[in-house]
Amino acid sequence: MIALSDSLRPAPGSAEAVEPAAVGLADEASPARGEPLIRVNGLTKRFGEVEVLRGVDLEIRKSEVVCIIGPSGSGKSTLLRCLAFLEEYDGGDVLIEGALLGYTTRNGKRVKASGAQINQVRRNVGMVFQQFNLWPHMTAAGNVMEALQRVRGMSRDEARRLALAMLDRVGLAARADAYPGKLSGGQQQRVAIARALAMEPHIMLFDEPTSALDPELVGEVLQVMKQLAREGMTMAVVTHEMGFAAQVADKVVFIDEGRIAVQGSPQEVFHDAPHPRLRQFLQNYFDRNAFWTRGGEPQGASA
Ligand SMILES: Nc1ncnc2c1ncn2[C@@H]1O[C@H](COP(=O)(O)OP(=O)(O)OP(=O)(O)O)[C@@H](O)[C@H]1O
Ligand SMILES: [Mg+2]
Repeated sequence: MIALSDSLRPAPGSAEAVEPAAVGLADEASPARGEPLIRVNGLTKRFGEVEVLRGVDLEIRKSEVVCIIGPSGSGKSTLLRCLAFLEEYDGGDVLIEGALLGYTTRNGKRVKASGAQINQVRRNVGMVFQQFNLWPHMTAAGNVMEALQRVRGMSRDEARRLALAMLDRVGLAARADAYPGKLSGGQQQRVAIARALAMEPHIMLFDEPTSALDPELVGEVLQVMKQLAREGMTMAVVTHEMGFAAQVADKVVFIDEGRIAVQGSPQEVFHDAPHPRLRQFLQNYFDRNAFWTRGGEPQGASA
């Protein structure tokens, strides 16, 4: 996971296009609670002939946790990546704290904004990916410090102090000087979360942050995310962890074939499941996660 200004640098194993980060710190006050931090209107995106996002409208308010669920290939990652302009969108608007992301108007026409402008708009957005993308030759603290020194111009001592505080926040102060190779997947993902937090984002985007983890390591990462939610962090989380979504989300968004088919409270989405495709999706999920009960019948299995 990386704060987005940091993501402009190629992380190990990543094929992101890179432009030099030209970012300032979040110098103005955060918006008031409840104001939309992100507003998406009529978002469309196609890859060649395939229309992947087909008019998405979404609002994420300050301190809201929005969980995005849906079948494989429905466009969840593409949507999240558009919110950070890691993917250029074709139509509609993505507004971050009121500013249009990725484009500007020149001679009455919409044109792509400069790298510096894009970074300016997304400077308060942090992102965590399925793959942690830590630098293997840097310690946990080193990984967190790197962007602080490079992007924010902090001294080594300052950056280390902040890095240790962030690692403490994710329960890893004791492993600050360990290299990623000596950390479990769950610990590596928590370092990646600390790295994004260090950039003081106003919103964090998570794309299936636990799906590359062994099942017994999922909980520790979800715990950190729950703590962030309790502290009021605004979060958009693409997840297959329905329990997490049910417990933590203010709003659950079900995407199907590039459109938001259902959105509402966890109760409305999981319990009422008004939409046939949603019901089918949840049934598949329950079938896969059915657990043997005392009577010998798996719970949640369809007849
Ligand atoms: N860079 C790309 N080039 C071409 N097609 C792409 C690209 N990225 C995604 N797609 C296609 O867009 C569609 C949506 O992909 P996306 O990754 O957003 O789905 P998803 O909902 O995140 O799926 P999953 O649950 O499997 O992660 C898929 O059909 C995918 O094959
Ligand atoms: Mg995806």
